Amino acid sequence: MVRVGIVGIGFMGMIHYLAYQKVRGVKVTAICEKIPERLAGDWRGIKGNFGPAGRKMDLSGIARYSELQELVADPNVDVVDVCLPPSLHPEATIAGLEAGKHVFCEKPIALTMAAADAMVKTAKKKGKLLLIGHVLPFFASYRFAYDTVVSGKFGKILGGHFTRVISDPLWLRDFYDPNVCGGPAIDLHIHDAHFIRLLFGMPKSVQSVGRMRGEVAEFFQSHFLYDDPQVTVSATSGVIRQQGRPFTNGYEIHLEKATLVFDSWMNMPVTVLTEDGKVKRPKIPVRDPVDDFAAEMAEVARCVKMGTTSAFLDGELARDALRLAHKQTESIIKRRPVKV
Ligand SMILES: NC(=O)c1ccc[n+]([C@@H]2O[C@H](COP(=O)([O-])OP(=O)(O)OC[C@H]3O[C@@H](n4cnc5c(N)ncnc54)[C@H](O)[C@@H]3O)[C@@H](O)[C@H]2O)c1
Repeated sequence: MVRVGIVGIGFMGMIHYLAYQKVRGVKVTAICEKIPERLAGDWRGIKGNFGPAGRKMDLSGIARYSELQELVADPNVDVVDVCLPPSLHPEATIAGLEAGKHVFCEKPIALTMAAADAMVKTAKKKGKLLLIGHVLPFFASYRFAYDTVVSGKFGKILGGHFTRVISDPLWLRDFYDPNVCGGPAIDLHIHDAHFIRLLFGMPKSVQSVGRMRGEVAEFFQSHFLYDDPQVTVSATSGVIRQQGRPFTNGYEIHLEKATLVFDSWMNMPVTVLTEDGKVKRPKIPVRDPVDDFAAEMAEVARCVKMGTTSAFLDGELARDALRLAHKQTESIIKRRPVKV
């Protein structure tokens, strides 16, 4: 049995808790939260942009702490699952690792490269796993793309465009604060930066053009530049200033013998255009988002049981994604390409 202690019972802490209930061989044994009602099981005030509404929970049998140090010291916890705001990821992660626990931390790994480096270094020093919750490869539409690309059945990957655009998330108080959430590049686009890193490796440089909001990028177009001039990779990311656009994402991935398309905003399901002119709609399961997270938690449990890192959730991959997001912001500010 893999025993998990969740730190931070907000939107993601709740989703993680619900997802763990769907994974065999995993048990939430402890939670840590500052808000007393949430610690007592009243999750009705918790809100997010998907998943069920918060409700009253029966948390009997689960150890409950208001201090992080108490949870990381709990001998009934094997994995510390960090669902705190990004600014608090490094402190909680390092405390968990130093206490001899594996750590599964929500994305982004951290706000600064120095903090991400310290997290990776501590995991190595302690010989523990550092996994970061980049959930995109566990969403069926993105997993289909990943599996299709790595299968090689349509030849080499030539490039792709990745989109992630939302209406201003007014309910997220600190979203644009570079010292709390990091803004649209660090907290939102990073999903695509991570997926691009997975599919194409690290680019040599990035070139982004965009609107800033204070110190953070608000809306931006990016090109990821590789040695091979044939490889064309780009992304559109960020926030529009109007309401009414739900969370939308999508991709168009070019392979030698097929193009994969998905666009949640245009209601375009995953579609495969093949070189013989056929348009195919593979059967992609439409499932409860909590099930996508359950698939991610199952991967965490597998890694802990096997003592190996994950091809998707590895901490160093997440650090690369953070580096890309920072370099993109630097490119917007400097108005020129920036070496990665
Ligand atoms: N993977 C995804 O799709 C996805 C979606 C949303 C958020 N996230 C990420 O999840 C993380 C959490 O975001 P959220 O939306 O759940 O935030 P949130 O603000 O809803 O929840 C954070 C919780 O942590 C608690 N908290 C704060 N400091 C604490 C401390 N020192 N000790 C204990 N509890 C403390 C708060 O009271 C709150 O309940 C962020 O990194 C965010 O980027 C990921």
